[in-house]
Amino acid sequence: MYNAKAYSAATAKSPLASTAITRRDPTEHDVQIEILYCGVCHSDLHTVRNEWSDVMPTVYPCIPGHEIVGRVTRIGSAVTKFKAGDLAAVGCMVDSDGTCPECRAGLEQFCPNFTLTYNFPDKHLGGITYGGYSDSIVVDQKFVLRVPSNLSLAGAAPLLCAGITTYSPLRHWGVTKGKKVGVVGLGGLGHMGVKFAHALGAHVVVFSTSPNKKDDALRLGADEVVISKNANEMEKHVGSFDFILDAVSADHDINAYINLLRRDGNLTLVGAPEKPLAVAAFGLLFGRRSLSGSPIGGIAETQEMLDFCGTNNITADVEVIPIQKINEAYERLLKSDVKYRFSIDMASLKSE
Ligand SMILES: NC(=O)c1ccc[n+]([C@@H]2O[C@H](COP(=O)([O-])OP(=O)(O)OC[C@H]3O[C@@H](n4cnc5c(N)ncnc54)[C@H](OP(=O)(O)O)[C@@H]3O)[C@@H](O)[C@H]2O)c1
Ligand SMILES: [Zn+2]
Ligand SMILES: [Zn+2]
Repeated sequence: MYNAKAYSAATAKSPLASTAITRRDPTEHDVQIEILYCGVCHSDLHTVRNEWSDVMPTVYPCIPGHEIVGRVTRIGSAVTKFKAGDLAAVGCMVDSDGTCPECRAGLEQFCPNFTLTYNFPDKHLGGITYGGYSDSIVVDQKFVLRVPSNLSLAGAAPLLCAGITTYSPLRHWGVTKGKKVGVVGLGGLGHMGVKFAHALGAHVVVFSTSPNKKDDALRLGADEVVISKNANEMEKHVGSFDFILDAVSADHDINAYINLLRRDGNLTLVGAPEKPLAVAAFGLLFGRRSLSGSPIGGIAETQEMLDFCGTNNITADVEVIPIQKINEAYERLLKSDVKYRFSIDMASLKSE
């Protein structure tokens, strides 16, 4: 075992602060990574503040971060995929059983025995897993991804959660040229959803509560932007969407969006608000519409997404921050005041 630097929250109400943690030495299948950038996902904030206490209660101290890119520093004797000095990335999962039908289908995100990157029982050291707000991490090579060399590292980090979480449902629901696709909430996930839906050839409509994001939405690849508080603008799109991706982090009226779907259209939730959302049955009955959800994505699809980003030169639009600004960043995230993902420059942790 060795010591690593990190930022942790001691309780649901405490700010994140500098700390020292213990990481395992790489076992034969492990890759040790020096973390260079870590994206700031709204899930980090939900977890730090224990907002998902009914589903995944937070164990403290909590060290979030699951949008990790860095450089390999050490490898175990059986590691073949990486060597010291390679770029590497880690997303939301660090382990799974590898034997269940989901794992065999390459869908580790549905494995009943997976291990999430933070706030999950740590099979190696006991306690819970610690995430990417740290200077290093040790992960089984099966859960370590390759980063295309043409991508900026700060902008590539958010692909590991915001990227795969939006790419996967867009692919699953057959988004291609000729489809009309809505993206609700232009945050970290939403802006990646817009980039991917546009790259896949769809007609993309962004729904935002923030009038000041309109020009950005068009620049990011939207064909139209609707300020969702404007009922007249919403009305124009009733019954017209093939697919809507809802990436909103807080309570909101999803019925307004279900009504915009055409017959057999689907609305997929990727946003995970603290409180349950109310669904009006008739919105689904009329038009045989469906409502579903989607969690992150499997390892093979995450690599496919990263390669797609390499080919199409797609990264997140990031505001790079030092780790010392993380608490301020959380407050700004709550005000939808980030364009469009914070990415922590982990070199800033060296001074702690
Ligand atoms: N399914 C998964 O596997 C998965 C993975 C990662 C994250 N998530 C969840 O997805 C959600 C979004 O994450 P994120 O990191 O993209 O968050 P984010 O950057 O904070 O973006 C959320 C966006 O939602 C909109 N919004 C916020 N409050 C709202 C309100 N009260 N009413 C309507 N719209 C509101 C804002 O967009 P506008 O300003 O455009 O309105 C905001 O930018 C979070 O709940 C997160 O936990 C799920
Ligand atoms: Zn995330
Ligand atoms: Zn499994």
